[in-house]
Amino acid sequence: MSTLPALRVGILGLGTVGGGTISVLRRNADAISRRAGRQIEVVAASARDIKKPRNLDLSGITLCQNPADLVKDPNVDVVVELIGGTTPAKELVIAALQHGKHVVTANKALIALHGSEIFEVALEAQTIVAFEATVAGGIPVIKAVREGLAANRIGWLAGIINGTCNFILSAMSDADQEFETVLKEAQELGYAEADPSFDIDGIDAAHKLTIIAAIAFGVPLQFESIYIEGIRYVSRTDVDYAARLGYRIKHLAMARQTTSGIELRVHPTLVPNNQLLANVDGVMNAIMINGDAAGPTLFYGAGAGAEPTASAVVADLVDVARDFGVDSGSRMPPLAFQASQQSELPILPMDSIETAYYLRLHVLNQAGVMADVTRVLGAGGISIEAILQQESEPGDPIVPIIILVHPVLEQAMNQALEEIAGLSQVYEPVVKIRMDSLA
Ligand code: NDP
Ligand code: HSE
Repeated sequence: MSTLPALRVGILGLGTVGGGTISVLRRNADAISRRAGRQIEVVAASARDIKKPRNLDLSGITLCQNPADLVKDPNVDVVVELIGGTTPAKELVIAALQHGKHVVTANKALIALHGSEIFEVALEAQTIVAFEATVAGGIPVIKAVREGLAANRIGWLAGIINGTCNFILSAMSDADQEFETVLKEAQELGYAEADPSFDIDGIDAAHKLTIIAAIAFGVPLQFESIYIEGIRYVSRTDVDYAARLGYRIKHLAMARQTTSGIELRVHPTLVPNNQLLANVDGVMNAIMINGDAAGPTLFYGAGAGAEPTASAVVADLVDVARDFGVDSGSRMPPLAFQASQQSELPILPMDSIETAYYLRLHVLNQAGVMADVTRVLGAGGISIEAILQQESEPGDPIVPIIILVHPVLEQAMNQALEEIAGLSQVYEPVVKIRMDSLA
């Protein structure tokens, strides 16, 4: 066995991921140290309430009530930040780096919003910031894109990267369950963020897309440019219609490089049943990446939860153990591209993006309505792929119509929908969900 001294770890946060990290490090200590070339030992930990009973073996770990003490502890080589959010996480991470500690974090909000500043501090301090767990939990997709696909120009990527949203949409589709009940279950299982609106409003997926897009396309981290829609407006009605038409509704994160710029968007999307992504269910995540040399590749695995996320955190610790003492100039750039070589391609506004759409309208069941709707679509240059008209309930004069349209500019679609919504025979709501064949 190696005679190198153990890598001494201090963990900030003993919740779902902190607990999972300690359990995995203890259970697999032997296999981990054989890979790392040295032992990895948790020597200190901190939480909001260190007296709280936890179902964890904390023997040999010094518990600090004040996390600011842990980040400057001379007995700690690496700080693992598993608190979440940006306050106090940002301040603690920067203090740790300035005290010469390497940092591992699972905090996507922190990296998406403040990564550039944090990487600069790390460069100055010649320390490592590792963040594999920030995207897609247990799937080592950052490593795959940064290292495994380094030869490729990435054309596009599409992923289901929020486990909570996928858990909810899958249950709505397979188990006929209501939104609120399933969200509660996702929270109990430790999948949801401390504030679950980050999950269901698409913010968490946008944080992750910010990070993976920077690594794939060499653009700066720019969360504020991402178009974001969550899943609150997706109803069981639309999930059922989509199924009848051969689709599943998934919350997708999409990034695509075009000659004029980069598309960055997260929103519910109808995906054809025969696509692998349509069949990724529950808390599982998957990301499809299209490189010009490798072609399409697909990465699949648990996107949230204690041990899948701990798997990524511990892999980062193994990398730190291997890189410990390596000249900082020879280390992997955190966002794959050399800092001086970032692309200046703009992020495209949503209006200039072309996609196909699923539309659900409620119209008065009388002659000529369909002709009016199709006239507006035709005038906007919007080509119809399919129409499904339901029979109205007995005595109900309103009838739902589902229309699938071929890809068209978002701006043209919105203009046409505004006109359609203004027709006297059309009633609210007019539902619009984007579609993607992922071909
Ligand atoms: P939890 O809420 O389960 O745990 C957070 C921990 O941080 C708790 O131990 C809490 O202490 C401690 N804490 C909270 N606020 C403070 C504070 N102000 N000062 C010191 N300690 C504090 O979160 P998770 O483990 O779920 O998530 C941790 C990070 O991992 C987040 O960034 C999250 O986005 C990310 N992540 C989570 C995944 C998951 O599946 N849960 C998956 C991938 C990433 P106490 O226990 O005393 O309350
Ligand atoms: N809340 C996140 C999710 C955790 O549900 O995907 C994993 O990042």
